Amino acid sequence: MRNKILIVAAVLTGAMGLAAGKCESAESTGQTAATERGRKTITVGFSQIGAESGWRTAETESVRSEAARRGIRLKFSDAQQRQENQIKALGAFIAQKVDAIILAPVVEAGWEPILKQAKAARIPVILVDRGVNVSDDSLYTTLIASDFVAEGKMAGEWLAGKLDGKGNVAELQGTPGAAPAIDRKKGFADSLKNHPNIRIVKSQSGEFTRAKGKEVMEAFLKAAQGSGTKINAVYAHNDDMALGAIQAIEEAGLKPGTDIIVVSIDGIKPAFEAMVAGKLNCTVECNPLLGPAAFDAVEAVLARRPLPKKSVVRDRIFDQSVAKDVIGSREY
Ligand code: AHR
Repeated sequence: MRNKILIVAAVLTGAMGLAAGKCESAESTGQTAATERGRKTITVGFSQIGAESGWRTAETESVRSEAARRGIRLKFSDAQQRQENQIKALGAFIAQKVDAIILAPVVEAGWEPILKQAKAARIPVILVDRGVNVSDDSLYTTLIASDFVAEGKMAGEWLAGKLDGKGNVAELQGTPGAAPAIDRKKGFADSLKNHPNIRIVKSQSGEFTRAKGKEVMEAFLKAAQGSGTKINAVYAHNDDMALGAIQAIEEAGLKPGTDIIVVSIDGIKPAFEAMVAGKLNCTVECNPLLGPAAFDAVEAVLARRPLPKKSVVRDRIFDQSVAKDVIGSREY
């Protein structure tokens, strides 16, 4: 659908709602609020992946502010992109006997042993944002996440329309082994099955960061120049990599958004600014404001209320034609 905006209202299937978190200071406000209500303060450990993108920072802020709003004591750990740091953090949370754990897992594989320890200690684990590969899904309580395959498909369908079914695409993948990198790649490739004249000519990880996105795009452009293959479009698995690629395209003397079409995923404010400036063509939203739903899940499991195994956040797609109108209402 050429240049057409597909706007799907944000819907959360499952029992939990999503709302923007409020900015409050975490620990002090939290404990006072809980004490005032005369109940035991809940302690939750949150193992976050890192701060690789604007999306990630928004997710951290959503969890922190929601914990404060509800009077929950939050123990926060930043893993700096390393799974072993997340496993250590979970081990520490278990030793400290937290009431629940919120985990945003950097990659899908390798979680069984530590999740077994949490289960043995009867500490519920709420997965946010990314899923895990485990043979026994009782090792976690629930997963709250976007449908990354659907996001990749939305990006692919939009791009196929924009390119009129023909062109060479360079793909910037996310962190190897991460659910959004695997699924966004798949969704995008699936959407191109009906468009045999659109070819993915380059595909490499830019690790979800702006710096790496730029570096990989520079290499793509050099290689393309050397081989005489024109790159018509860039598909980046997140906005930060797209913004890095835009810089590389400009430094190569080309016009991003015109000479090379750029489509990405997340919907962070800088992506909207780039769309308003005509440099980014389209972004598919991936809602990072998961704090309210995560703590709904924590409170439900501690109160022994039933929870769905998975709650899917449905996202929207925005292109340049609406960027100016909606930029003011973006929450992250
Ligand atoms: O898992 C969500 C992805 O992780 C976001 O798209 C990306 O920006 C982040 O780092």
